Amino acid sequence: TTTYRIAPSILSADFARLGEEVKSVIDAGADWIHFDVMDNHYVPNLTFGPMICQALKPHAKTAAGVAVPIDVHLMISPVDALAASFAEAGADLISFHPDASGHVHRSIQAIKSKGVKAGLVFNPAEPLDVLEWTLDEIDLILIMSVNPGFGGQSFIDSALRKIEQARKLIDASGRDIRLEVDGGIKVDNIRRVADAGADTFVAGSAIFGKSDYKGVVDQMRLALG
Ligand code: DX5
Ligand code: ZN
Repeated sequence: TTTYRIAPSILSADFARLGEEVKSVIDAGADWIHFDVMDNHYVPNLTFGPMICQALKPHAKTAAGVAVPIDVHLMISPVDALAASFAEAGADLISFHPDASGHVHRSIQAIKSKGVKAGLVFNPAEPLDVLEWTLDEIDLILIMSVNPGFGGQSFIDSALRKIEQARKLIDASGRDIRLEVDGGIKVDNIRRVADAGADTFVAGSAIFGKSDYKGVVDQMRLALG
Protein backbone atom coordinates (compact mmCIF):
# COMPACT_ATOMS: atom_id res chain seq x y z
CA THR A 1 0.00 0.00 0.00
CA THR A 2 1.09 3.55 -0.79
CA THR A 3 2.29 5.85 1.96
CA TYR A 4 1.01 9.25 0.92
CA ARG A 5 2.93 12.34 1.91
CA ILE A 6 1.65 15.90 2.10
CA ALA A 7 4.26 18.60 1.57
CA PRO A 8 2.94 22.10 2.33
CA SER A 9 4.74 24.79 0.31
CA ILE A 10 5.81 27.66 2.54
CA LEU A 11 5.75 29.90 -0.55
CA SER A 12 2.20 30.79 0.57
CA ALA A 13 3.11 31.19 4.27
CA ASP A 14 3.53 34.50 6.10
CA PHE A 15 7.20 35.31 5.40
CA ALA A 16 7.33 37.64 8.43
CA ARG A 17 6.71 34.60 10.66
CA LEU A 18 8.28 31.73 8.74
CA GLY A 19 9.58 29.76 11.72
CA GLU A 20 6.17 29.75 13.42
CA GLU A 21 4.48 28.92 10.11
CA VAL A 22 6.71 25.85 9.68
CA LYS A 23 5.90 24.76 13.24
CA SER A 24 2.16 25.31 12.74
CA VAL A 25 1.98 23.35 9.53
CA ILE A 26 3.97 20.49 11.09
CA ASP A 27 1.54 20.48 14.06
CA ALA A 28 -1.21 20.34 11.41
CA GLY A 29 0.30 17.09 10.09
CA ALA A 30 2.74 18.07 7.33
CA ASP A 31 4.97 15.15 6.30
CA TRP A 32 7.54 17.27 4.46
CA ILE A 33 8.20 21.01 4.22
CA HIS A 34 8.30 22.10 0.55
CA PHE A 35 10.78 24.96 0.03
CA ASP A 36 10.44 26.84 -3.28
CA VAL A 37 13.66 28.54 -4.38
CA MET A 38 13.27 31.10 -7.20
CA ASP A 39 15.99 33.23 -8.76
CA ASN A 40 14.22 35.74 -11.06
CA HIS A 41 16.12 34.12 -13.94
CA TYR A 42 14.89 30.57 -14.40
CA VAL A 43 11.47 31.77 -13.19
CA PRO A 44 10.08 35.32 -13.00
CA ASN A 45 10.00 35.54 -9.21
CA LEU A 46 12.43 35.69 -6.29
CA THR A 47 12.13 33.91 -2.93
CA PHE A 48 14.73 32.64 -0.47
CA GLY A 49 18.11 30.95 -0.35
CA PRO A 50 20.20 28.61 1.79
CA MET A 51 20.44 31.00 4.75
CA ILE A 52 16.67 30.91 5.24
CA CYS A 53 16.73 27.12 4.89
CA GLN A 54 19.40 26.90 7.58
CA ALA A 55 17.43 29.25 9.85
CA LEU A 56 14.28 27.14 9.46
CA LYS A 57 15.99 23.77 9.93
CA PRO A 58 15.68 23.78 13.77
CA HIS A 59 11.94 24.49 13.38
CA ALA A 60 11.41 21.54 11.04
CA LYS A 61 10.54 18.97 13.68
CA THR A 62 7.45 17.64 15.40
CA ALA A 63 6.50 18.50 18.97
CA ALA A 64 8.02 15.11 19.89
CA GLY A 65 11.31 16.21 18.29
CA VAL A 66 11.15 14.06 15.16
CA ALA A 67 12.80 15.79 12.18
CA VAL A 68 10.51 16.64 9.26
CA PRO A 69 12.28 16.49 5.88
CA ILE A 70 12.94 19.75 4.04
CA ASP A 71 12.03 19.23 0.37
CA VAL A 72 13.93 21.86 -1.62
CA HIS A 73 12.54 22.67 -5.10
CA LEU A 74 15.18 24.63 -7.00
CA MET A 75 13.84 26.92 -9.71
CA ILE A 76 17.27 28.35 -10.40
CA SER A 77 19.98 28.26 -13.03
CA PRO A 78 22.79 27.36 -12.72
CA VAL A 79 22.10 24.55 -10.23
CA ASP A 80 25.24 22.99 -8.77
CA ALA A 81 26.78 25.62 -6.47
CA LEU A 82 23.53 26.54 -4.73
CA ALA A 83 22.47 22.88 -4.52
CA ALA A 84 25.62 22.22 -2.51
CA SER A 85 24.83 25.19 -0.25
CA PHE A 86 21.32 23.84 0.35
CA ALA A 87 22.73 20.43 1.24
CA GLU A 88 24.93 22.12 3.84
CA ALA A 89 21.95 24.18 5.04
CA GLY A 90 20.02 21.02 6.00
CA ALA A 91 17.99 20.11 2.93
CA ASP A 92 16.90 16.45 2.95
CA LEU A 93 15.80 16.32 -0.69
CA ILE A 94 16.87 18.62 -3.51
CA SER A 95 15.07 18.69 -6.87
CA PHE A 96 16.03 20.71 -9.92
CA HIS A 97 14.75 21.31 -13.44
CA PRO A 98 16.86 19.43 -16.03
CA ASP A 99 16.69 22.37 -18.47
CA ALA A 100 18.28 24.58 -15.78
CA SER A 101 21.43 22.47 -15.63
CA GLY A 102 23.99 22.10 -18.38
CA HIS A 103 24.93 18.65 -17.05
CA VAL A 104 21.98 16.86 -15.51
CA HIS A 105 23.84 13.70 -14.50
CA ARG A 106 26.60 15.75 -12.87
CA SER A 107 24.08 17.84 -10.91
CA ILE A 108 22.37 14.68 -9.62
CA GLN A 109 25.73 13.27 -8.48
CA ALA A 110 26.66 16.59 -6.88
CA ILE A 111 23.51 16.45 -4.76
CA LYS A 112 23.86 12.76 -3.85
CA SER A 113 27.53 13.14 -2.97
CA LYS A 114 26.35 15.40 -0.10
CA GLY A 115 24.18 12.59 1.26
CA VAL A 116 20.97 14.29 0.09
CA LYS A 117 18.22 12.70 -2.01
CA ALA A 118 17.99 14.02 -5.58
CA GLY A 119 14.96 14.72 -7.75
CA LEU A 120 14.16 15.92 -11.26
CA VAL A 121 11.32 18.36 -11.99
CA PHE A 122 9.24 18.49 -15.19
CA ASN A 123 7.39 21.60 -16.36
CA PRO A 124 3.91 21.28 -17.89
CA ALA A 125 5.16 21.30 -21.52
CA GLU A 126 8.24 19.10 -20.92
CA PRO A 127 8.41 15.38 -21.72
CA LEU A 128 9.91 12.82 -19.35
CA ASP A 129 12.57 11.79 -21.91
CA VAL A 130 15.58 12.56 -19.72
CA LEU A 131 14.40 9.84 -17.30
CA GLU A 132 15.54 7.22 -19.81
CA TRP A 133 19.09 8.12 -18.76
CA THR A 134 18.59 9.20 -15.15
CA LEU A 135 15.91 7.03 -13.54
CA ASP A 136 18.51 4.76 -11.96
CA GLU A 137 20.13 7.72 -10.23
CA ILE A 138 17.26 9.66 -8.70
CA ASP A 139 15.08 9.39 -5.60
CA LEU A 140 12.18 11.58 -6.68
CA ILE A 141 10.26 12.77 -9.74
CA LEU A 142 8.38 16.05 -9.38
CA ILE A 143 5.66 16.74 -11.95
CA MET A 144 4.66 20.40 -12.23
CA SER A 145 0.92 20.86 -12.64
CA VAL A 146 1.35 24.64 -13.02
CA ASN A 147 4.06 26.72 -14.66
CA PRO A 148 6.64 27.36 -11.94
CA GLY A 149 7.03 30.79 -10.37
CA PHE A 150 3.88 31.50 -8.38
CA GLY A 151 1.50 29.95 -5.90
CA GLY A 152 -2.25 30.02 -6.31
CA GLN A 153 -2.49 28.93 -9.98
CA SER A 154 -4.96 26.40 -11.38
CA PHE A 155 -4.10 22.73 -11.86
CA ILE A 156 -3.27 21.90 -15.51
CA ASP A 157 -5.15 18.69 -16.32
CA SER A 158 -2.64 17.33 -18.84
CA ALA A 159 -0.33 16.73 -15.86
CA LEU A 160 -2.48 13.72 -14.98
CA ARG A 161 -1.37 11.85 -18.11
CA LYS A 162 2.26 12.68 -17.34
CA ILE A 163 1.83 11.39 -13.78
CA GLU A 164 0.50 8.12 -15.22
CA GLN A 165 3.55 7.89 -17.51
CA ALA A 166 5.93 8.56 -14.63
CA ARG A 167 4.18 5.96 -12.45
CA LYS A 168 4.67 3.32 -15.16
CA LEU A 169 8.37 4.15 -15.46
CA ILE A 170 8.87 3.97 -11.69
CA ASP A 171 7.01 0.67 -11.34
CA ALA A 172 8.95 -0.84 -14.26
CA SER A 173 12.23 0.24 -12.67
CA GLY A 174 11.42 -1.50 -9.39
CA ARG A 175 13.24 1.33 -7.63
CA ASP A 176 12.01 3.28 -4.61
CA ILE A 177 11.25 6.65 -6.22
CA ARG A 178 8.75 9.16 -4.87
CA LEU A 179 6.28 10.66 -7.39
CA GLU A 180 5.47 14.20 -6.27
CA VAL A 181 3.07 16.68 -7.87
CA ASP A 182 3.24 20.45 -7.45
CA GLY A 183 0.74 23.15 -8.32
CA GLY A 184 -2.98 23.74 -7.86
CA ILE A 185 -3.55 20.77 -5.55
CA LYS A 186 -6.68 21.16 -3.43
CA VAL A 187 -8.92 18.97 -1.28
CA ASP A 188 -11.24 18.46 -4.25
CA ASN A 189 -8.63 17.23 -6.77
CA ILE A 190 -6.03 15.41 -4.64
CA ARG A 191 -7.81 12.07 -5.08
CA ARG A 192 -7.62 12.32 -8.88
CA VAL A 193 -3.90 13.11 -8.66
CA ALA A 194 -3.38 10.08 -6.41
CA ASP A 195 -5.41 7.88 -8.78
CA ALA A 196 -3.07 8.91 -11.61
CA GLY A 197 -0.18 7.51 -9.55
CA ALA A 198 1.22 10.31 -7.38
CA ASP A 199 2.24 9.57 -3.79
CA THR A 200 3.48 12.97 -2.62
CA PHE A 201 1.48 16.19 -2.82
CA VAL A 202 2.68 19.77 -2.62
CA ALA A 203 0.03 22.25 -1.53
CA GLY A 204 0.65 25.94 -0.90
CA SER A 205 -2.37 28.20 -1.16
CA ALA A 206 -4.82 25.39 -0.33
CA ILE A 207 -3.28 25.08 3.14
CA PHE A 208 -1.85 28.52 3.95
CA GLY A 209 -4.88 30.27 2.43
CA LYS A 210 -7.05 28.90 5.25
CA SER A 211 -6.67 29.72 8.94
CA ASP A 212 -7.21 26.08 9.98
CA TYR A 213 -4.20 24.29 8.46
CA LYS A 214 -5.03 21.04 10.24
CA GLY A 215 -8.56 21.10 8.86
CA VAL A 216 -7.20 21.19 5.30
CA VAL A 217 -4.49 18.54 5.87
CA ASP A 218 -7.07 16.26 7.54
CA GLN A 219 -9.49 16.68 4.62
CA MET A 220 -6.69 15.89 2.16
CA ARG A 221 -5.83 12.71 4.06
CA LEU A 222 -9.49 11.76 4.21
CA ALA A 223 -9.74 12.21 0.42
CA LEU A 224 -6.62 10.05 -0.04
CA GLY A 225 -8.19 7.32 2.13
C1 DX5 B 1 5.26 27.02 -7.94
C2 DX5 B 1 5.77 26.28 -6.73
C3 DX5 B 1 4.73 25.59 -5.95
C4 DX5 B 1 3.69 26.50 -5.34
C5 DX5 B 1 2.42 25.73 -5.29
O1 DX5 B 1 6.35 27.45 -8.68
O2 DX5 B 1 6.71 25.30 -7.14
O3 DX5 B 1 5.33 24.78 -4.95
O4 DX5 B 1 3.99 26.94 -4.06
O5 DX5 B 1 1.42 26.57 -4.84
P1 DX5 B 1 -0.10 26.18 -4.96
O6 DX5 B 1 -0.33 24.94 -4.14
O7 DX5 B 1 -0.79 27.38 -4.38
O8 DX5 B 1 -0.40 25.96 -6.41
ZN1 ZN C 1 7.44 23.81 -5.65
